[in-house]
Amino acid sequence: MSKDKVTGAGHLEIGRRNFLKTAAVSAAAAAVGTSGAEAQTINCAPVAGSVAWKQPGNNRHMLELAGGAPVKKGPVTLEYFGHCAFKLTSPSGLTMMFDPWRNDPSGAWGLWFPKDFPRQVVDVCLSTHTHFDHDAIDRVDATTVLDRLIGTWSFADVKITAVADKHSTDSPGWYKWINVVKEFGGDPYPPNNPGHLDMASFVVETGGMRILIWGDNRANPPEEVWKQWGKIDVLTLPVDGSQHILSYEQGNKIVERLKPKMVIPTHYLCEGVSVTLTTLQTADDWVKSQKNKKNLTDSKLTLDAGDMASMDREFYYFGSHATHGT
Ligand SMILES: [Fe+2]
Ligand SMILES: [Fe+2]
Repeated sequence: MSKDKVTGAGHLEIGRRNFLKTAAVSAAAAAVGTSGAEAQTINCAPVAGSVAWKQPGNNRHMLELAGGAPVKKGPVTLEYFGHCAFKLTSPSGLTMMFDPWRNDPSGAWGLWFPKDFPRQVVDVCLSTHTHFDHDAIDRVDATTVLDRLIGTWSFADVKITAVADKHSTDSPGWYKWINVVKEFGGDPYPPNNPGHLDMASFVVETGGMRILIWGDNRANPPEEVWKQWGKIDVLTLPVDGSQHILSYEQGNKIVERLKPKMVIPTHYLCEGVSVTLTTLQTADDWVKSQKNKKNLTDSKLTLDAGDMASMDREFYYFGSHATHGT
């Protein structure tokens, strides 16, 4: 008989023995953090799933845009929520949240984010892969959820090309997190990698720009992937001082190849959002080593295709300026 029980409040209490089992299963599946979702169902009654039916807001805004609201020209707004989470707002007002974060529900990877992801009502929510630091789609009140989309999606003044590839597996820094997968008998490398090391990166075309949401993609994808990314104006890239996902060298090579007008570092230690237990460091040193850089003083950035026309590989660094909960 299971030692787990669901409390009157609907919360799952996991017995100590099952917690350890849960943690082990999660760790076995893990790289920088698997969701551990499958582990949650071990030896216990199914837990209630999505509660999206209770979320605030409705599809009124998307109905207006679908109903022929005039497509506006103008800038795109980018708001940083720390780690790899961004909210983009198209010139016509379509709002998209990328890679909302949460803590690993199994506890195996520890506490990364002391506060919950701040709830937001948006039109579209997207996640690049199933790691906990990218997949909190339940924390976003969205009309449309595009979880690990592959292919193209277009609506109003936005087209998204979602490119299937693989997660980085090099772990080039001191912390060899990829070894956890091997220690539990998994093969992290394509083509036999577990599903949590699959990736979908997103090229967002809006406002006359092409914005690449890199996620945790590997540094050396096949030529076909580079072809699908094409010309990129704004590149988001996961490089931090611990070189957890990509090394400085890998990051620099990617920037050299894509030659974007703007580079936005992600996946770094962000005061107010993430803590030292992540093992991440800031991206300060990587940004300092770049020729063209700007330290931002706000979590919001306006992207204007006209203003950006003369830019060449300029680093725009949010540092600890991120929108977060209290
Ligand atoms: Fe990841
Ligand atoms: Fe990640």
